[in-house]
Amino acid sequence: MAEAFCMLGARVYICGRRGGVVEAAAAEITAEHGALAGGSVTGLACDIRVPEAISDMVDRIWSDGGALTGLVNNAAGNFISRTEDLSTRAFDAIANIVFRGSFFTTLDCGKRWIKEGRKASVLSILTTWVWNGSPFTVPSAMSKAGLNAMTQSLAVEWGHKGIRFNAIAPGPFPTEGMSARLNPGQAGYGGEMAHNPLHRAGRMPELANLAVYLMAPGSEYVNGQTIAIDGGAWQATGGNFSALTAWDDEAWRRAREAIQATNAADRAQRTV
Ligand code: HXC
Repeated sequence: MAEAFCMLGARVYICGRRGGVVEAAAAEITAEHGALAGGSVTGLACDIRVPEAISDMVDRIWSDGGALTGLVNNAAGNFISRTEDLSTRAFDAIANIVFRGSFFTTLDCGKRWIKEGRKASVLSILTTWVWNGSPFTVPSAMSKAGLNAMTQSLAVEWGHKGIRFNAIAPGPFPTEGMSARLNPGQAGYGGEMAHNPLHRAGRMPELANLAVYLMAPGSEYVNGQTIAIDGGAWQATGGNFSALTAWDDEAWRRAREAIQATNAADRAQRTV
């Protein structure tokens, strides 16, 4: 998505906890696509689980490039687990990123836009589970359903202020971090697509095209919508993890071990 915005000339900020990773990605995208239309990408380290860190990040953006004209809530944390195996810390690890972090980022930007009388588009990346839930990823399903309610609510509350809200509900668009936590040690969530009506996973440019449309002024009359992009999977199969009811204790033990090894490796790269 950042690549597509940059190609079209946007000034983009990407944020994450691994400062080195976001800075390298920002430099790479700018070098590859910046010349096309004068776009640029800047990487900022931020842990959106910490509300004060969000304010600092948004301050830095406002004083660096001027006010944002849009916000993409893309931060997520997720792993498959039997719900009875979750501790309160496990629930918080996910809900503090997805539910609270996305809301506080939206609120921080929203207060500034309202005060300054600016228009903006907020796009939240959800999942089709906001409509039918997902067993074995319950904290994620609950958190993203909360953001779906935020999208619908603020679309009405802030629409007349020129701030509109939409969401994308993607099916499987495999990424390294997601596959390691949602299908550990196997083909990767999105690898086995026989039951998807299109028999394939999503392609990143397909997601980026929809994001570009929803962030652009040309879609200004679209407000309060959550749009699925999953090849029709959730109508066909529910698009969630109900098949994991077949797993035994040993399968869950192996999954947990693999997921926790991935989490530890990621933690080692964090700079905030
Ligand atoms: C049970 C687990 C567990 C597991 C971790 N925990 N893995 N419990 N089963 N498999 C527990 C830990 O034991 C601990 O609780 C608590 O969760 C916090 O774990 P940490 O590893 O200390 O947390 P942290 O390092 O902060 O990791 C946070 C994370 C991690 C959310 C768990 O995965 C992360 O930061 N991920 C970011 C990237 C990501 O997940 N991307 C994928 C999103 S995919 P105790 O009580 O033991 O201390 C996505 C797509 C959805 O959302 C849409 C698809 C269609």
